[in-house]
Amino acid sequence: MELKRFKNYHELSDFAADDIANSIKNNPSLVLCMASGDTPKLTADLLVKKLKEEKIDYSKITFIGLDEWVGLPPTNSGSCHYFFQNKMIQPLQLKPSQYFLFDALAKDLSMECARMDRMITDRDIDIMVVGIGMNGHIGFNEPGTSFNNLSHVIELDEVTKSVGQKYFNEQVELGKGITLGFKHLLNAKKVFLMANGSKKAEVIKKTVEGQVTENFPASIIRQHENSVILIDEEAASLLSKPR
Ligand code: F6R
Repeated sequence: MELKRFKNYHELSDFAADDIANSIKNNPSLVLCMASGDTPKLTADLLVKKLKEEKIDYSKITFIGLDEWVGLPPTNSGSCHYFFQNKMIQPLQLKPSQYFLFDALAKDLSMECARMDRMITDRDIDIMVVGIGMNGHIGFNEPGTSFNNLSHVIELDEVTKSVGQKYFNEQVELGKGITLGFKHLLNAKKVFLMANGSKKAEVIKKTVEGQVTENFPASIIRQHENSVILIDEEAASLLSKPR
């Protein structure tokens, strides 16, 4: 695990976007998996801009959405689907064969998990971009989730249900999530965990300096040989050791 500190959110996002764009330049059929949420928003915008401005061929990339709120339609502006469509799929005009998102309305969610697992078995994830929740979750891998999980459906933690309201225009009933598992994260060739702002300082301290334990999911990042934590000064503010 490597840790990189940036002055602010923009510099952090620019670094991630630059790295992904260069990786696509070197590997046009790159497989990119991304979280939704506030943290990767600017990375997605800058990545789209760089790919277009630098005329990088992105016609063969594959995009994978990390997770979804169970029961929400893709038209809900707070859904992960909506984020992925608006930030990546539509701006890059990806073909349906190029992207894979969880269908959180599927009748059989375990079949939906199996579909995503099969798809990932067929192609390795080259870069995975994740955020960190206020309870240390990654994707919807909530505290207590096994580090060995593949895709699964999970009862959301109370913290996730209440913090998650920020994505919606009106109060929504959040119950379950469907998410890639940590086995996918450990198998990804490179993982970026991004965090910005002082509200993330506590969870970043636990991630970097606490115990590696399933009770604090983001600590798994330290078990990945090619993971990079990207944080701004505010998110780094509680770290005790200078890095
Ligand atoms: C969303 C996801 C979540 C978020 C996390 C941080 O697709 O996977 O794990 O990454 O909750 O959310 P933000 O970035 O909004 O602080």
